[in-house]
Parts: sequence; C-alpha cells; structure tokens
Amino acid sequence: MEWFYGKFDEQSGRPGSTFIEGSFDEQSRTATLKTIRVESALRGSGLADSLLEMFVTAARMRGMQRIRGVFSPDEGCEDRARRFYERNGFRIGSDERPFGLGGTYTFETVEYDLTDPQQGQTPTS
Ligand SMILES: CC(C)(COP(=O)(O)OP(=O)(O)OC[C@H]1O[C@@H](n2cnc3c(N)ncnc32)[C@H](O)[C@@H]1OP(=O)(O)O)[C@@H](O)C(=O)NCCC(=O)NCCS
Repeated sequence: MEWFYGKFDEQSGRPGSTFIEGSFDEQSRTATLKTIRVESALRGSGLADSLLEMFVTAARMRGMQRIRGVFSPDEGCEDRARRFYERNGFRIGSDERPFGLGGTYTFETVEYDLTDPQQGQTPTS
C-alpha cells in the first residue's frame, strides 16, 4: 500500500487546508480516495479539479484500474461535491457494510473506472 498526499497552501499560509489524500493498492489495483478538501475562500477556483486530476494521473501511472472512495461531504456541501465529482467523470454509487448484530448500513461512494476509455473525457453537449 502506497500513500498519496497532495497539497496547495501557498496562498492560505495554512498548511494542509487544501489537499487531497488517498492510497494505491498494487495487489487489487485499486486507488482509494480518502479526502479532498479546498478551503472555503478558494472554492470555485478550479483548484479542486487540479488536485483531483493529479490523483487520477498518479493512479494511472501506477497501473490502478479503479478509484474508489466514500462520498461524505461536509454539511451544506453535498450538492456542490456531487456536481464536482460528476463533472470530473466520477460516478456516485452506493455500498453496504455489516453493522451491529446482523444489520447493514448503506453509504454513498464515488467511483472512477480507469479502464474505461470513456471516463475522464470532457463531456460534449
Ligand atoms: C468538494 C470540494 C473539494 C469541491 O471544491 P469546489 O471548489 O467547491 O468545487 P468546484 O471546483 O466544483 O467549484 C464550485 C463551483 O465553482 C465553479 N468553478 C470551478 N472552477 C472554476 C473556475 N476556474 N472559474 C470559475 N468557476 C469555477 C464550478 O463550476 C462550480 O459551480 P457549480 O457548483 O455551480 O457547478 C470543496 O467544496 C470542499 O472542500 N468541500 C468540503 C470538504 C468536502 O466535502 N469534501 C468532499 C468529501 S466527499
């Protein structure tokens, strides 16, 4: 397992407030997107796109076949985060995990198929 951390903090002066974090698992060829965060003053600047692109490129270079993550935006950020992922070619899906005594809970995921030549292409209208 290899960890990936990319950050942008030159303007904010607050290290780590704008960053992307994930990991690459060589065996399953799966990249995990753990967190992406752009500090509020810098949102809507295209920085989030650049951070995500950096992660996608790094995943491709390491031969990953897919990127997966949990969709868990900050409160109030849900629609914005959803649009952001979809605009960047990610699919919002869902998954289930065992919970408690025989129960399950469902959560939303973000997924990107790196083997699909259609993915990641700029949508045409
Ligand atoms: C999710 C997150 C990283 C997305 O970053 P963002 O900068 O807010 O998102 P975008 O890059 O999509 O920008 C937002 C808007 O600005 C617009 N925009 C993007 N780049 C632009 C640019 N260069 N110039 C002008 N507008 C731009 C987008 O079209 C978007 O508009 P829309 O929401 O009406 O579609 C950020 O909102 C964030 O850090 N949220 C808190 C943490 C979080 O919830 N993380 C996600 C965990 S799943």
